[in-house]
This record gives sequence, structure tokens and C-alpha cells, in this order.
Amino acid sequence: MNNAYSIADLRSRAQRRLPRVVFDYIDGAADQEITATQNVRAFAEIALLPHMLRPTPDCDTGVEIFSDRLAMPVLVTPTGFTGIVWPRGEAAVARAASAAGSVMVVSAASSLSMEEIAQSSPGPKWFQQFIYKDRGVTLDLAARAEAAGYKALVVTVDVPAPGKRFRDLRNGFTVPPSLTISSGLDMMRRFGWLRQMASQPRISFPNFEGYGSSGLLDIGEWLNGLIDPTVQWRDLEWLRQHWSGPLVIKGIMHPDDARLAIEVGVDAVMVSNHGGRQLDTEPATVEVLPRIVEAVDDRVPVIVDGGIRRGSDVLKCLALGARCCLIGRPYLWGLGAGGEAGVTRVFDILKDELARALAHGGWNSINQVSRRDIALRQAFPWPAGFDSEATSQGKQQGGAA
Ligand code: FNR
Repeated sequence: MNNAYSIADLRSRAQRRLPRVVFDYIDGAADQEITATQNVRAFAEIALLPHMLRPTPDCDTGVEIFSDRLAMPVLVTPTGFTGIVWPRGEAAVARAASAAGSVMVVSAASSLSMEEIAQSSPGPKWFQQFIYKDRGVTLDLAARAEAAGYKALVVTVDVPAPGKRFRDLRNGFTVPPSLTISSGLDMMRRFGWLRQMASQPRISFPNFEGYGSSGLLDIGEWLNGLIDPTVQWRDLEWLRQHWSGPLVIKGIMHPDDARLAIEVGVDAVMVSNHGGRQLDTEPATVEVLPRIVEAVDDRVPVIVDGGIRRGSDVLKCLALGARCCLIGRPYLWGLGAGGEAGVTRVFDILKDELARALAHGGWNSINQVSRRDIALRQAFPWPAGFDSEATSQGKQQGGAA
């Protein structure tokens, strides 16, 4: 892994090693993939303003969140079905994240059970789930997460319907699967991946096995049926009453929603557009971040994911007011390129790049970076009169109740 110098290098390696169906599943996004592209591109529109002659002898990349001190402000965002990338993929990610002093957010759609992932490394972990049609399953998963030692519950709210991902549709990576001849042949040619997959038990969604039926296909369909398009703010209020630990709302893109989430009593707001896998042509997360930070007004931490590929991207998020940020595809590419060693390499690269950016800019710790240290090449233009309009609409909708 030592001659992979950037996250982009790891992406290329994963692309060479994984079958197209699997690579496209992790790499792809909804519709024309405009939001996914913009998530990355928006960072190039933000310039860092370095300070000279300011030595950084003991440069500190550490951060605290929910009373845990992390070695770096980069967490692992939840991704489902990771076992398709590497056998027992979530355990490999958990070990690498723990060794890097990070936090892993485990998806309910993981391919190892949440209990097994919790046991696989000592580092802090949060559990991510939805509010499902079956509220009994919703509460049961949260209770299991608490019993297994997960510190925070992350509730994703940006999936009222599944995203339309053309790469998956074209490859036949669907529920039920409808693999094309060409994607089947391509799979046969990836010997390394094929050998690994053949040697592990069939992957599934073990967190749901006790509730639905046990076959992968049945569970896949059953899980799709669990998506609840009627979920609203009062449902989050209901879940808040049942979870006493830190509660994080994932999928916030609008400052008004950030305010409502705080009324409900969340402990952190996570700015996310699901990596562009849901509603295409949403703005990049880093474009909306400053307005959400403003709306939250220091009442709870704001965290962000989407398009973070470099240490300097991390620094830009922090300068715009995020407490820390999370990565999705980068660790999946690392995992696809080389398992646990690949994920470790992702953390090493980001930490090294972050430390270099801090040194170049004369910031001795990540807390020293602020809005004064960045320039937006092209400000994201909010609609004229946005704030006054938004306030009156929020009132009409009756807040969080
Ligand atoms: C995701 N994401 C996601 N989010 C979530 O809340 N629950 C989930 O199960 C999944 N599953 C999932 C699978 C795959 C393959 C990807 C790529 C993403 C979205 C994820 O948490 C995150 O919001 C984005 O991946 C962040 O963008 P980047 O870092 O991938 O650009």
C-alpha cells in the first residue's frame, strides 16, 4: 500500500481489483451524478489563506466529540453491504478506524451483525439506522445498539424513497439481482476478489435476520419494504424519547431543518446528501455547511460528509465551522484495494495531508483554523431574500410538532 500516495490512487486500485458491479455500487450515485461530482468539485472552489512565519512545533490534529478524544477529525460514515467489497469488510474497517483513533459509524445494513462489529475493535462506534415502517424493529435495533456498546445513534432522514442509480440498474445490481451477461463475465475475471468471496459464507444483512426471512434475496426485498415515506419530525421526537445517548440526525441540507432538529433535541447535526446517491442536483454539502453552522449557532456540533478526498478538504470543513467530518467512498476504495491495510492507508494519507496543510498554513491545531483563513472563489448563491422567506415558512409549518 505504501506506493498509493493519494485517495485517488486507492480508487484506481480498487477499480482494477473489484468487479465492475461492485466498484460501481460503491462509486456510483443517483441520476446524472451531478451532486456526487459537485461534492468533490466544490472543495476546489475554496481557497486556504496561509499565515507565514508562524511555526507549528506541536501541531495537534485531535478533536473531541461526545466526550471521546479522537486523534483526527475524520470519522467513518455508514455504508451498507460492505462485505461485498472485502470478506468481513466491516471488521477490517473497524480495526483500521480504531487504530487510527477514529470513530466508525456502523450501518444497520452491514454485512456482519452490529454485535460482531462492536466486538471486533476497541475503538468508539456509533450505530446508524432509519425510522422504519415497523416501529418495533426501529426500537429493537436501537436497544441492541445500546446493549452492544454503541455510543451514539445516527438516524438517517434522507431516504423517503430509494435513489435511482443508473450504474446499478445497468449492471443488474438490483433487488432482486438481474446481473447482465457482461457484468457476470467481468466478475469471473476478477480472480482475487472471486476467490475471497467464494471462501466466505454467503453475505447477508444479519442485523435484520431475526425479523424478516433469512435468505439474502428475501431480506433485500423486505428491507426495501421497510422504507417509510411517511416519516416526519414527530417520529424523530418519538425516537428521541427512546434513546438516551447522543442522537445525530444525518442528511440535513437546509438551515431550517437544522433548526427543527435542534428543537427535537438532537445532539449533533450531520450535513449530508448521502454522497449524491439520493436526490441528484442537490448542492454540495460544503456549499450549504456555512448556512447550517449559522443556523445551529453553536448549540450542538455540526458534522459533515460528502466529497472529502484530501486532508485540505478536512481543514476547509473545519474552517467553515464543522466539528469534524466523515468519509465514505475513500475507505471503501481503500478496502477494495487492500482490505484493512488499504483502510489504514486511507487514514495515514488523510492524516499526513492534514498535518502538512496545518504546517503550511501556520496553524498549530485544528481549532486555530477559522472563516478568516479561507476565501470562497465562487460563493454558493442562495436565493435572494432566502432568510426572511425561510423564517416565515418555518413558522407556517408549525416547527417540530
Ligand atoms: C452509503 N451511504 C449510506 N448512508 C446511510 O445513512 N446508510 C447506509 O447504509 C449507507 N450506505 C451507503 C453505501 C455506499 C456504498 C455508499 C457509497 C454510501 C451514504 C454515506 O453514509 C455517506 O453519506 C456518503 O458516502 C458520503 O459521501 P462520500 O464520502 O462517499 O463522498
